[in-house]
Amino acid sequence: MSKILITSALPYINGVPHLGHMVGCLLPSDVYARYMRMCGHEVLYICGNDEHGTASEVGALKENMPVQEYCDKYHARHKKVYADFNLSFDYFGRTSSEQNKEITYHIFEQLDKNGFVAEKTMKQVYSVDDKMFLADRYITGTCPHCGYDKARGDQCENCTKVLEPTDLINPHSTISGSSNLEIRETKHLFLNLPKIEEKLVEWLKTKEAFWPDVAYSIAKKWVKEGLQPRCITRDLKWGFSVNKAGFEDKVFYVWFDAPIGYIGITKQWSDENPTKRNWKDWWLDAEGVRYVEFMGKDNVPYHSITFPATLLGTGENWTKVDYLKGMSYLTFAGGKFSKSEHRGVFAEDAVKEFPSDYWRYWLMANAPEASDSSFTFESFVNTINKDLNGVLGNFVQRVLKMTSSKINNTVPQGEELQAEDKELIKILQNRVNDYFKYMEAMEFRKAVNELRAIWVEGNNYISATEPWTVIKENPKRAETILRVCLNLIRIYAILSAPLIPNTAEKMLAKFNLTLANMPTLREFDVATEINALRTGQEFTVGEALFERITPEKMQELQQTYGG
Ligand code: MF3
Ligand code: ZN
Repeated sequence: MSKILITSALPYINGVPHLGHMVGCLLPSDVYARYMRMCGHEVLYICGNDEHGTASEVGALKENMPVQEYCDKYHARHKKVYADFNLSFDYFGRTSSEQNKEITYHIFEQLDKNGFVAEKTMKQVYSVDDKMFLADRYITGTCPHCGYDKARGDQCENCTKVLEPTDLINPHSTISGSSNLEIRETKHLFLNLPKIEEKLVEWLKTKEAFWPDVAYSIAKKWVKEGLQPRCITRDLKWGFSVNKAGFEDKVFYVWFDAPIGYIGITKQWSDENPTKRNWKDWWLDAEGVRYVEFMGKDNVPYHSITFPATLLGTGENWTKVDYLKGMSYLTFAGGKFSKSEHRGVFAEDAVKEFPSDYWRYWLMANAPEASDSSFTFESFVNTINKDLNGVLGNFVQRVLKMTSSKINNTVPQGEELQAEDKELIKILQNRVNDYFKYMEAMEFRKAVNELRAIWVEGNNYISATEPWTVIKENPKRAETILRVCLNLIRIYAILSAPLIPNTAEKMLAKFNLTLANMPTLREFDVATEINALRTGQEFTVGEALFERITPEKMQELQQTYGG
């Protein structure tokens, strides 16, 4: 057994998550955490909201409430919808917590003490009426290249040219609309990455053999292009005020305290039960911890360069990422998800339409791993009807009904396994081994593919053995076949649990069992498990596991959500 620390990139508090966010790191990390727990490892799975930064301030302004209140409101919404999706975080915390502040201050002090913090004066746009410095993207004006009148200070959306705020004609604040802007000098703190570079490169080298190529090449490209000092402070109100003389009126940049949030949130978790939990066992001078991070690919530079450099610069022995899974993007019918344009399914609506397992299954079967993938209702409806309802649901219902009507509602005794049963066991064991291999490797599409193939084997077996015919001449043999099939239901429940946990529980509940007392996946031996249900064990047929989605429903969904 080993200790596995798993984090999912911390979702921004402003806005609500859509399916792209769900599959971009939250869901894959959950499937992995569930799988690793079922293998018998000690897992700590941490996530939370990323709360600081201008976006929260602006979001709060728009809703006319204090930032703290705004964050409380959205934090509750995030928490709720992740629970509805069955994400099994050990703790879902907040980067704004006192614990995170404490650790951010400590890390900053170490960096400063070790000479990795530099000061620099720069020029920035100040909005007199908003009483704040404006981030480039919060300045709007007319693009000097194409005349578009809603160009942002960092880029023109219309002609895509990269801009400086000072390039804009008639610049004004996006927040208040005021054009009373001034250029002011302001002093900021920088993380001196060039000075940490040597340590960082040395550390990176130890990861080359272990990280997926995509992640390693992004990191290497950054180093090759030359590391620049990175500004870690901002002239904002919402955030941790900087704990250094002369900088108290500034706050840390959101990307400085956000990844530290993984640690801060672990401390939130550990403070809730300090006699049983110690955040340091996972993060500081921690032994035997394997640390796996999940994130969207745009997050890779922060997690492979800036965050490790931050930790290395402290000179302390912090746990650093061992494996980094960077996901590509999910598009909505080939385009962008957009709340304002009513395009795309947002997680809160998704769970109102269908049980979370439907979404979990489609999303993981189509996870954007090697490349982007696209959500369409057509694909969703097909997959649910074919794989979940047609293959898994149908098998389970058929076996239970047949046994109930031809024999009774208990697991029959049967007799010795025959060659065709043994053949099934062999095929399944091979597939199960592959399934585990893909899960370990976090190749989720392949893993789901394999799981589906395992389900299909059940249908193949029952079609080939025809217990409904056999029972007429050889009832004992029919009993054996049905007994094997009933055991397959239990096996399928266990194997499917990381992906569709609610359905797995439902399947086991038919036998009055729960996931809590299942064997670890580590020693999962099909030949043993095929005999696990006790003779005479009762079962209930109950209702079908899934419901077919009708063409009418599909049309309705397309009308409501686009795509
Ligand atoms: N909030 C960021 C995003 O959604 C991710 C932050 S990950 C963290 O892209 F580790 F920095 F918190
Ligand atoms: Zn333009």
